[in-house]
Amino acid sequence: MKNLLTTVLFSFLTLSSVLSNEKEIVRVETNDLSMIFTAETDGKIVYHYWGEKVNNITPVLDRRFKNQPDTNDELVPQLYPAYGGRYYLNPALKLTHEDGVLTTDLVYVGSKTKVLDSNRTETVISLKDKIYPVFVDVKFIAFRAENIISQSVSITHQEKKGIQVENIASAYIPLHAESYYLTHFNGTWAAEMQMEEEMLTHGVKVIESKKGVRTTQSENPSFILSLNAKAQEDSGDVYAGCLAWSGNYKLSFELDETGSLNILGGMNPFAALYNLKASEKIETPEMILTYSNRGKGQITRNFHDWARKYSLAHGDELRPILLNSWEGAYFSFNEKTLTDMMDDAAGFGVEMFVLDDGWFGNKYPRNGDNAGLGDWQVNKTKLPRGINYLADYAVNKGLKFGIWIEPEMVNPDSELAKKHPEWIVKSGKRDILPMRNQWLLDLSNPKVQDFVFNTFDEVLAMSSNISYVKWDANRHVDNAGSDYLAKNEQSHFWYEYVKGLYSVYDRIRAKYPDVMIQLCSSGGGRLDYGALKYHDEFWASDNTNALDRIYIQYATNTFFPAIATGSHVSTSPNHQTGMIIPIKFRFDVAMSGRLGLELQPKDIVGDDHGFAKKAIETYKQIRPIVQFGDLYRLVSPYDVNSWASHMYVSKDKKQSVFFAYSLKYHGRTTYFDTRLKGLNPDKNYKVTEINSRSGHSSFNGNGKVFSGDYLMKIGVNLNIGNPFDSAVLLITEQ
Ligand code: DGJ
Repeated sequence: MKNLLTTVLFSFLTLSSVLSNEKEIVRVETNDLSMIFTAETDGKIVYHYWGEKVNNITPVLDRRFKNQPDTNDELVPQLYPAYGGRYYLNPALKLTHEDGVLTTDLVYVGSKTKVLDSNRTETVISLKDKIYPVFVDVKFIAFRAENIISQSVSITHQEKKGIQVENIASAYIPLHAESYYLTHFNGTWAAEMQMEEEMLTHGVKVIESKKGVRTTQSENPSFILSLNAKAQEDSGDVYAGCLAWSGNYKLSFELDETGSLNILGGMNPFAALYNLKASEKIETPEMILTYSNRGKGQITRNFHDWARKYSLAHGDELRPILLNSWEGAYFSFNEKTLTDMMDDAAGFGVEMFVLDDGWFGNKYPRNGDNAGLGDWQVNKTKLPRGINYLADYAVNKGLKFGIWIEPEMVNPDSELAKKHPEWIVKSGKRDILPMRNQWLLDLSNPKVQDFVFNTFDEVLAMSSNISYVKWDANRHVDNAGSDYLAKNEQSHFWYEYVKGLYSVYDRIRAKYPDVMIQLCSSGGGRLDYGALKYHDEFWASDNTNALDRIYIQYATNTFFPAIATGSHVSTSPNHQTGMIIPIKFRFDVAMSGRLGLELQPKDIVGDDHGFAKKAIETYKQIRPIVQFGDLYRLVSPYDVNSWASHMYVSKDKKQSVFFAYSLKYHGRTTYFDTRLKGLNPDKNYKVTEINSRSGHSSFNGNGKVFSGDYLMKIGVNLNIGNPFDSAVLLITEQ
């Protein structure tokens, strides 16, 4: 019996290796990375490899016998595993055919590669069910220089009665290693993006949102997956992904019995069954992927380069320093309050004034968060001369002007809610549950899409001097349901809401390509690359407390660049935490992102006034390095020592700016030292402390010249041991 088995197996292996010569190999490649798929002779397409670039891949091993010689090929990682056959893990695709059949068996049809431009190549791998007319295209775009690959999937069919799509992931990634460490980012309002790392054990770890809107407030759809050890900054195998989708999502990490990790990422299938008609197509969001064999620092730089070029509006333009009115005025202002703020802002060297919430509503004036949302007409009592007057005033002061809107939302106390109850998201006859005293408009409805677009359009028409819009969204979905969608399409709501939102964004960007738009959703509740590509920047958190911001921004900047990270100096004691923090520390934290002010400028008094003015001037000097430079993380606030430090290095390595913060009392004899990164070892650099408070430097080499080699091997030490001590160094090639 044993012999027979050996003979059979041997002949199968021989046959298989002969056939393997005929395998078609599909490669998706960037400058340094390869994804390799092999189309097998049985029609399957195997996920062969994802990682550092492989130049010579012949002969291609047949992976089907690797782990389970006595079972069939279904255990081999497929490019896109569907539920059916022997596939028992969570599938990328699950659908029910018109005849009730629950399974799908995808085979390879062919692949097409198109050069989009000198940096981007698109590859589409087409699959088809063996029996049913169901067609799946898996699309990759390889961004060569940035070492980013985006992956998305579309499905169509010709089954007459339609199919029910229960789950359609954007990407499946199989990995095999000794152990796996997952870094992910959880949070809550005012404490978004808290970084956590854990070793995965057998079973399924899921990161997801079912909130529909404001989905990234409690978890971001991003991950870092490190093989065999915790993720290091500058060494080790690390994979990373960000789902570009502003709706419900699910990322799952399934460690199976073979020791393989099966990663799936895409829209959340929860309560989201989609009845797909023969003429229709579902397109999944893109999963943005990268890999580094030099640790997560390189992962970050890949995402930042890619975002500035491809997924951020005006990613090649410096951002203005702004004063936002929210924490300085909240809802209580009149014309004079605002023009005074503008006068003061201009005096500080600020470049833009943004009028936050509270400027609209007449029958239901917006004097608090309980009324007026939806009625986007200027409040005549507060602002009798309208927005035009304020915007002109700003421009005459040399400031740009921005304005806040929250067009997806409505207060029950508003003219809009009375006029269009059918536009409100609701679950049949159940109560509509308010959140922050507001309801959600149903963006799956084209009329609501028109309303939201028209709101933006009409607000912009209030003045030709509006350069910036802050787009807020302060609740998520509960009791989901739509008066617009048919009875059997209620579960389409999650998908159609986001598609509706994106179609509004598309219309807005077509008409207003130059307007700066901030992505805000109670702070960082909508921080994903699906929305971000329409925006210039995001508001990472409503928590402006500098200490908390260090943690939030450190984690946020893992994927999202400083140029887009609205980072504001607010007053002390801080409004969210009550914490008292010196102005230098507050500036030093805010200056490592897109600097702004979030306060009543009149509250900056005494010596702080001169310091703030000088700090704003200093930021203008370092702004190109912060906003366009490469980020190198030096010391994590999440580590035990309670210091944090990072630096930005200009692309030509001629200039760098370094930040270090002390987060607690370290004892009199303890000092902070760190090695720098990213400089040219063969060049000399002058190191100067900037933004110092007293003229006294915490760096004993202040003003001296060191080689890049010295700074990167021996490093700098700083006398910053007290809570809220901080230092900023400017490092300039000589
Ligand atoms: C939440 C935002 O995050 C804040 O910055 C502010 O705009 C308020 N909404 C206004 O209601």
